[in-house]
Amino acid sequence: MSTIITVHNLDFKYAEDKPSVLSEVNMEIEENSIRAIDGLSGCGKTTLALA
Ligand SMILES: Nc1ncnc2c1ncn2[C@@H]1O[C@H](COP(=O)(O)OP(=O)(O)O)[C@@H](O)[C@H]1O
Ligand SMILES: [Mg+2]
Repeated sequence: MSTIITVHNLDFKYAEDKPSVLSEVNMEIEENSIRAIDGLSGCGKTTLALA
């Protein structure tokens, strides 16, 4: 199976003077796979999906 999405050391903040919402995120998603992003409210799921 081949990798269709690779995330390498992703950091994201909504503003320069705000803390990082995502920090050093690494993942690979294989084709034809199903993946869930879970975690508490506010942990960054939507931000990751948008990225
Ligand atoms: N447009 C935005 N501007 C500033 N901060 C945001 C914005 N969207 C989300 N955040 C903040 O980023 C963090 C992660 O939010 P979010 O990705 O929506 O989490 P989840 O989807 O896991 O509930 C939270 O602290 C939230 O307040
Ligand atoms: Mg969300």
